[in-house]
Amino acid sequence: MIDGDFTPLELHDLQVMVHRGGTILKTARSQRFRQLEGRQGALSMLKENNIDALIAIGGDGTFNGLLVFSEICDIPIVGIPGTIDNDLTGSDFTLGFDSAVNTAIENIDKIRDTAESHNRVFIIEVMGRDSGYIGIYSGLATAADSILIPENEKDFVQLISNIKNYNSEDAFIVVVSEGEELGTEFIASKIKEVNPKIDLRITRLGHVQRGGNPSAFDRMLGIRLGVAAVNSVLAGEKNVMLGLLNNQLSSTPFQHVIKSHHVNNEMQKLLELFSSQEVQKKELTKKGKYETNR
Ligand code: F6P
Repeated sequence: MIDGDFTPLELHDLQVMVHRGGTILKTARSQRFRQLEGRQGALSMLKENNIDALIAIGGDGTFNGLLVFSEICDIPIVGIPGTIDNDLTGSDFTLGFDSAVNTAIENIDKIRDTAESHNRVFIIEVMGRDSGYIGIYSGLATAADSILIPENEKDFVQLISNIKNYNSEDAFIVVVSEGEELGTEFIASKIKEVNPKIDLRITRLGHVQRGGNPSAFDRMLGIRLGVAAVNSVLAGEKNVMLGLLNNQLSSTPFQHVIKSHHVNNEMQKLLELFSSQEVQKKELTKKGKYETNR
């Protein structure tokens, strides 16, 4: 917007981008937009190019920017939640989250093969700057032995207690959110401290989670929210974020769109249920299973 670098998009343009990750917009945390001068420049460009509505896609940074921009912008603005962190109020899911989780799951499954083959402990760090959503979803969906997320402090205590009893007879997968305050290195050092015999590896999945083909869910979410955003502008709405609440389209005023730091209660309970398993019980069950199979 600031540079007046606009590209017309037609319906058929979707065919070359619907299966791609990232953004063709090439937008990223603009420092210039943080300054009033930058925002005024953006508004002039919108007007010069006869743009009659602005639809923005992004996470909390984008929505903070939109809130400030709406103070000077007399053109209707609506927003669409897009962040792999899934940490915005006003939508149960944000664009990119489901695809990122699927990538994380695929990679954790692959890492499990090595972990199972050599009876290793793996700490796998997944993204989520302040949010544990990718961590909890990917950890539960891969049956990780321990899931550490910023929203739950008890998991670490449970992990340390379990790891004391771990005697290298099996794989042990720890999924850690990037936003976990203790930090992956510290967690690894504590594991080694309480059980020095452990063969431990750390894998950071990193930016593979932000790219690749979007999942079916994300494609449909993009289509639903995109159409809803246009309809919302046509209906005269402005300064709202379109989202999905209980699988229904919803619109939330910008001032109520905030970064949410909590995975929901149901998820927290699942986490507690699964992470309270004792490691010894798991080994017995597995041994019993192999013996029956033989
Ligand atoms: O906010 C989304 C996010 O993917 C976080 O999960 C992650 O910490 C961050 O962005 C990575 O940002 P960058 O690509 O600038 O390193």
